[in-house]
Amino acid sequence: MSTLLVLLGCQAGFADPSREFGAPVLEGERFPTEVHTPTTLGVVDTPVTDVHGTPVGVACATCHGPDAATAWASRPGEPFHTGVELHHGPITCASCHDPDDRTKLRLADGTGLDLADAMTLCAQCHGPQFRDYTHGSHGGMAGYWDTRRGPRTRNHCVDCHAPHAPAYAPVVPAAPANDRTPLEDSHG
Ligand code: HEC
Ligand code: HEC
Ligand code: HEC
Ligand code: HEC
Repeated sequence: MSTLLVLLGCQAGFADPSREFGAPVLEGERFPTEVHTPTTLGVVDTPVTDVHGTPVGVACATCHGPDAATAWASRPGEPFHTGVELHHGPITCASCHDPDDRTKLRLADGTGLDLADAMTLCAQCHGPQFRDYTHGSHGGMAGYWDTRRGPRTRNHCVDCHAPHAPAYAPVVPAAPANDRTPLEDSHG
């Protein structure tokens, strides 16, 4: 009986007719969606620290590639940043790095890629995740949902996944709440 009354009530429409329809959605100009590129992409930490104790970064091209200003990279056996441990499926270093120019990444067809374009490299092997990313269901976003009102920022794959060990550590369940009045008692 009460359901019937509600249905009858609806038929009468809104008490305030001006509220019956929302404001029309106007197609206007849209603000850009920008992918955040970490400024540390293509920069390696050195043992040198600044006044705040933060490691000083140096660009790959300082030591590698045709324009390298130093002879660092031609010193075989030099311990600097070697011994990278890879935990990324069965792939090898050369699946991602160009062995002839270490300032570059490379795709499977040999095309060189700047480190800043690492997302194209990830997308090559992770099609489903990249598709989800472009649809907005992987990788998160910040800023405006409605880009007619303001800009939006997307995260880069390597903001979240370290390229050499991309898996997230397993989540440890939190300890149960230390409640002074357990649920069963609170009803008693
Ligand atoms: C301060 C100098 C310096 C900088 C900066 C530097 N490298 Fe190196 N890199 C070296 C040296 C020295 C080696 C070891 C000698 C060699 O293999 O040529 C090396 C080795 C490597 C190797 C081979 C590692 C291995 O275990 O076989 C890769 C790949 C590499 N560098 C990539 C990079 C990338 C990418 C960057 C920037 C993010 C970078 N390097 C920045 C000096 C540098
Ligand atoms: C899935 C792709 C991928 C694979 C496989 C890979 N790398 Fe990298 N590597 C990257 C990317 C992307 C960066 C740039 C990271 C940055 O600058 O923040 C990088 C950075 C580096 C650097 C610069 C310093 C550092 O540690 O960030 C070195 C050295 C390096 N890689 C060596 C190697 C070696 C050696 C292997 C194989 C054992 C390897 N990489 C395998 C993608 C890869
Ligand atoms: C050359 C192909 C290739 C490239 C390039 C590549 N991956 Fe992978 N990735 C793999 C393979 C193979 C696996 C392992 C899949 C498995 O074990 O089921 C993997 C696994 C992963 C995983 C899941 C790890 C886990 O164990 O749960 C993540 C996350 C990932 N990759 C992120 C990235 C990111 C970010 C990049 C770009 C920096 C990248 N991958 C580039 C081939 C690649
Ligand atoms: C905001 C952080 C974030 C960003 C950005 C991000 N991912 Fe992920 N990714 C995750 C999380 C969280 C998981 C789930 C990890 C788990 O289940 O343990 C995941 C899982 C994955 C996996 C493992 C397979 C799966 O679906 O569980 C792959 C491969 C992957 N991401 C690739 C990518 C690629 C490629 C990009 C860039 C286009 C990217 N991710 C951007 C957070 C991120």
